[in-house]
Amino acid sequence: MSSASSLRILIVGSGGREHALAWRCRVEGHDVRVAPGSDGIAEDAVCVPIADSEHGRLLTYAVGNAIDLVIIGPEQPLVDGLTDKLRSAGIVTLGPSAAGARLEGSKAEAKAFMQRHGIPTAASRTVSDVSAGRRALRSFDEPPVVKASGLAAGKGVTVCESFEEAEAAMCSCLEDQVFGESGATVVLEERLSGEEASFFVLTDGTHARTFAAAQDHKRLLDGDLGPNTGGMGAYSPAPIVDLEIHDRVMATIVEPTLAGLRAEGTPYVGILFIGLMIDAEGVPRVIEYNCRFGDPEVQPLLFGAQEPVVPHLLAAAEGRLSPGQIRGLPAATVVLASAGYPRSSTRGTPISGIEALAGARDLKVFHAGTRRGDRGWETGGGRVLGICARGEDLQQAISRAYEACAAIESDGAQLRRDIGARALARPSSP
Ligand code: AMP
Ligand code: GLY
Repeated sequence: MSSASSLRILIVGSGGREHALAWRCRVEGHDVRVAPGSDGIAEDAVCVPIADSEHGRLLTYAVGNAIDLVIIGPEQPLVDGLTDKLRSAGIVTLGPSAAGARLEGSKAEAKAFMQRHGIPTAASRTVSDVSAGRRALRSFDEPPVVKASGLAAGKGVTVCESFEEAEAAMCSCLEDQVFGESGATVVLEERLSGEEASFFVLTDGTHARTFAAAQDHKRLLDGDLGPNTGGMGAYSPAPIVDLEIHDRVMATIVEPTLAGLRAEGTPYVGILFIGLMIDAEGVPRVIEYNCRFGDPEVQPLLFGAQEPVVPHLLAAAEGRLSPGQIRGLPAATVVLASAGYPRSSTRGTPISGIEALAGARDLKVFHAGTRRGDRGWETGGGRVLGICARGEDLQQAISRAYEACAAIESDGAQLRRDIGARALARPSSP
């Protein structure tokens, strides 16, 4: 397959990220299936009841339905080797191999990789027993950030205010095994300061095409307070990543990362999402690698994109990507989360107002955790909706998103009121 004229695309996953991908593929004129998808995703694509862990059934479906391109949304099936299985059966797949996905699947291996290739990141120590951990703790001048090495659904990182807290976080991984096998190895990491940004690279292993940088809002409450979440909102472009910093990220992080992976025999094909900390001098360092699109960041990226994206996704999966940038209009997503999130999850609470927004200009409601009940939409737990808008400038995009939020009602729903505020407060906002 060498052209992107109406492809049959299978997207694996079921959240807001996969809804945004499905919507984008549909508006670009493709035949889109999503496995397993969700009631909300079914508004934009055909859903296929196969879980992302059922690799054999996904392969059979892809072969039997002459799928031209598989896009794997979440990290777990990537880490578990779904790409390798699909590719070895000749299915064109966007997503790294299991070996490439180790960059997200093992923070300990990612740190060692960065060290081998001179990629700027926080100093760290990796430990797998408590006594070595206590010794390592003593080598830090300030309380370190404590990270379960393996996948922990976004919950494995503790930014500690004291050494006591760091020791407790380390022990809950190594002794109490609160993250199971994922916490059997712990990375203790120097705490970096600066401003965070999410940097997305599409790559065929050699060439890179970037999206505009985005910024997530990880804490539950306004002003970056409260517990960490999967992300309460995002916007793009993020003005912190200006041209100079973009070039610095490419030269000091992206290029050595891709070259390092090639040199180690694990060329990386897919989306590489780099969580950056940019210090006061404009020096970017890697906080973490992820092997997939970020959610909610992907929503403004794909809703704002000003040129077809699918031809680039296909070109990367087929190893013939042309380098460059995918430019986008300013766009923002405000996440609506269910009552109790992130500690607990409320299911079955009615949500009203979604349908009335269907025709709204420059607005799209992405479904992250909804379901259709007898009386209409209801919460399915966790993050529920991503209300995404684009505009001529970021202020307009953000205002549109919040106007739409005002039209949606659901008892106890939580949302932040300051998505994008940091960008708007800058002297020359986009
Ligand atoms: P993660 O769950 O890996 O996305 O990390 C959650 C958050 O922890 C990040 O978005 C940062 O805000 C924070 N974090 C992780 N590592 C560091 C670090 N070395 N210094 C400062 N903050 C960090
Ligand atoms: N929003 C951050 C992530 O997807 O990991």
